[in-house]
Amino acid sequence: MGRVVVVSNRVAVPRRGEAAAGGLAVALKDVLKASGGLWFGWSGECRKNPEKAPKQVRAAGIDYATIDLDPEDQKGFYAGYSNNTLWPLFHFRLGLMEYDRKEAASYRKVNRDFAEALLPLLGPDDVVWIHDYQMIPMATELRALGAKQRIGFFLHIPFPPWAVLSALPDAERLLRDLLAYDLVGVQTKRDLGGLINCFQDALGLAPDEDGGVRGEVAGLQRRTQLSAHAIGIDTRGFATLARKAAFGPETQRLAASMGDRSLIVGAERLDYTKGLPHRMRGFAALLKDFPEHLNRVTYLQVAARSRNEVASYRNLRRELDSLAGRINGDYAEFDWTPVRYVARALARDTLAGFYRAGRVGLVTPLRDGMNLVAKEYVAAQDPEDPGVLVLSSFAGAAESMDGALLVNPLDAEAMGEALHQALCMPLDERRDRWESMMRGLEEQTATRWAESFLAELEELKLPQQEML
Ligand code: G6P
Repeated sequence: MGRVVVVSNRVAVPRRGEAAAGGLAVALKDVLKASGGLWFGWSGECRKNPEKAPKQVRAAGIDYATIDLDPEDQKGFYAGYSNNTLWPLFHFRLGLMEYDRKEAASYRKVNRDFAEALLPLLGPDDVVWIHDYQMIPMATELRALGAKQRIGFFLHIPFPPWAVLSALPDAERLLRDLLAYDLVGVQTKRDLGGLINCFQDALGLAPDEDGGVRGEVAGLQRRTQLSAHAIGIDTRGFATLARKAAFGPETQRLAASMGDRSLIVGAERLDYTKGLPHRMRGFAALLKDFPEHLNRVTYLQVAARSRNEVASYRNLRRELDSLAGRINGDYAEFDWTPVRYVARALARDTLAGFYRAGRVGLVTPLRDGMNLVAKEYVAAQDPEDPGVLVLSSFAGAAESMDGALLVNPLDAEAMGEALHQALCMPLDERRDRWESMMRGLEEQTATRWAESFLAELEELKLPQQEML
């Protein structure tokens, strides 16, 4: 296997004293280490006239290279086009999507700057793996500079069908950008359906019998393989973290404060795709329709503040603040607060302990590429007395987590009913459901996901443009 070079906007450079890493860092650690790999992206810093050459550091057997961005470019690229145009669009939220040509130009420019900074670091046998919606045009830019390496792309968020994507003025261009990759991966079959539908309806490109599309890039005919690879977690590692955290001071304090009440737990970034207001309304429906749970259950929602520079996120914060206050005002007793709402991030091990303490894990996004909280909640459970996952059918995780109670988050009463069913579920059924999900999580780990994507990329017959 060649050296693996990962590109993503955020780079998880390990810092001393930091708690265990999550997300992409966990998934990529093993493959990066095994190949002597490099992780490239934004440093997290902005400055006027930034250095073109990346800063390089080595930590725990992995090389990291990062560049700073000009503040204006970063604003248009990150808060603008990435998170105020593509993010709502790819999550089917056309009413929240805005478009600005200047921001679209910043997005292109930052992708070009990334490509120019990365190219001198690439060797001929490197395999480049680019991640997520912030970086879609990067292969186009690398190819324009002459890069011949295998380049794969993975989209972590949903891929909408053409009826949705076509709202974007640059939609066709963005689809053509995908043709500069050798392999394009998405999370689920549903996303693969969206991707294929876009190629067909927008560009008239139908997949061949092996699941690839052929199109023209910079005067050359190329073939791009399309496939679905569901991302997982470090299942064993997270289970261990939760087991240990259950004895830690935070989980102990939480348990003491609960008395003999049951805990419903949710935790995510404070993002409108996560359906947090709907979730609070679903919890209120439980209290209204099943009053036997009054003063018997507490819902803890951790909502880590995120992308505060984007107005729709600030609006959501206000909406949640008022809704949590309203539900507590309606239902609280002098000795019971139904909703505990924490609008900031908690440490990963603290969360792991809280998941284990939760009789119900409530994960109800309106749309989500995969949703790793659903997987972490299950991995964190005590096998002898596991809790129940209540999951939105619009999370990618719903495709594989057959032991969850699936709900439509728009239906508050249905969520109330699912919560009631979860809170009353007998131990045998909880165990059966948990075991079937846990088996899946032990097979589909984060490392497996990375290995299967890279294996598919490496096995493609290249160069694909000469095959045509
Ligand atoms: C999602 C996206 C990632 C992103 C993360 C955090 O998981 O798929 O690409 O990095 O959210 O968002 P942020 O805007 O803080 O990078």
